[in-house]
Amino acid sequence: MRSIRAFWCLPLLLLLSAGDGGKYDYDTDLLTPEFHAGRRNALRALMPDSSVAVFFASPVRNRANDVDYDYHPDPNFYYLTGLREPNAVLLVFKEKIAIDTLFTNEILFVQDRNPGAEAWTGRRLGPAGAKSTLKVDRVLSNTTFTGLKIDYKRFRKVFFYPLPTDVRDSEYDKADLYDLVAHVRHSTKGNKNNEELLIDQYMSILRQVKQPEEMVLLRKAIDISCAAHIEMIKALEPGMGEYETQAILEYEFRRRGAEAVGYPSICGGGENSCILHYTTNRKPLTGNNLIVLDAGAEYHGYTADITRTLPVDGKFSDEEKAIYNIVLEAQEAGIALCRPGNDFRAPHKAAVAVIKKRLLELGVIAKEEDFQLYFFHGTSHYLGLDVHDPGMYGRLEAGNVITVEPGIYIPEGSPCDPKWWNIGIRIEDDILITSGAPENLSGSIPKTIPEIETMMKVESYLNRRPDLPKPTGGHSH
Ligand code: GLY
Ligand code: MN
Repeated sequence: MRSIRAFWCLPLLLLLSAGDGGKYDYDTDLLTPEFHAGRRNALRALMPDSSVAVFFASPVRNRANDVDYDYHPDPNFYYLTGLREPNAVLLVFKEKIAIDTLFTNEILFVQDRNPGAEAWTGRRLGPAGAKSTLKVDRVLSNTTFTGLKIDYKRFRKVFFYPLPTDVRDSEYDKADLYDLVAHVRHSTKGNKNNEELLIDQYMSILRQVKQPEEMVLLRKAIDISCAAHIEMIKALEPGMGEYETQAILEYEFRRRGAEAVGYPSICGGGENSCILHYTTNRKPLTGNNLIVLDAGAEYHGYTADITRTLPVDGKFSDEEKAIYNIVLEAQEAGIALCRPGNDFRAPHKAAVAVIKKRLLELGVIAKEEDFQLYFFHGTSHYLGLDVHDPGMYGRLEAGNVITVEPGIYIPEGSPCDPKWWNIGIRIEDDILITSGAPENLSGSIPKTIPEIETMMKVESYLNRRPDLPKPTGGHSH
């Protein structure tokens, strides 16, 4: 057995040994090495003299037994390098410095090529491939990291995020993330120049303003998601399970080239429309259900975040209409304030004012402050590589992309007329702040009641086929 393995490894080794990094990137619209280099320079510009920032790739997470979750790069690490492999560490120095025989201002440590492992879990760039593809000044094998003599005390500041403590240590790999983190923990332990808070601020300052290259990918993620939501509006009908709406949305994402969802799809019908992050998605839908569909595609790391609320049978009831139009008015009031110079919370304040006033008028609440029973989340967050992207939450500025997503959720048993119970409504769009008027990047999806009811009458090529099994175990609300 041993000799057969050795025999097979030899040609594979030759095949894989060259710096063929990037050759198997079938996508031609990835962020460029120049983009990532520009981001590292922008980070350096924020860092004080004589400082270093340490970034780790995200860990491989085990699902069960010998199956891992899909690998998802750490967004900061990806933003600064473009690397999508685990077990890597990046050092960004403010100035060029001498370390061992090197003189550089950045070093990326990556996994070595390993034909045996690559045949199982996929291609690796290796140091040579990473160097030619990513163009970081110095790229070394991660096996050299612990041997490199860096005196972290020599810097004025050493920036890193809280070091992860829940990483698995593979007994076969002496340079996996566990070992890389343990080395930094050991080398910086008790040092007075360690700094965790500022690095978070620096990355927020950088990531909250989208560069043109990022906007191309974010727009693509949002356009894909819009197409999926539009097909969903056409396809929705009673008898579907919530899981079927999830399947339709995610099928449309994937067939348009999205690699993943940016977050677990929320497909909450009836009573589940009142659970903000409901992801069970098992309920059979009936004609008198509303469904909250909060789903966004991820494209080359960038994610959309879009919510529409639809009547399963194609017609809103009077009560649903009344609540829906309040949420819509609140959202439009919020979007109107997405302008540079405004406080980040201005859209939220505008949405709250509408919801308070209108719920009082409807008699759903008796005093203003009770609006919090039914609207208890923020209206906006930044959007980008993370669905809840980092940002400073200060003043809005051109290049920010934020969501505007007010909602009203009235679960069964709420202290109001039972005719309002189990109505949960959220409407969410992705808004680009420009120097002028806000641009609604997801504005192509129907949103008013007449628009939605009209589009729901349109046939979808995905309409429910008679051969699909009927959802089981349903009871209507
Ligand atoms: N899309 C879920 C959220 O924004 O929390
Ligand atoms: Mn959101």
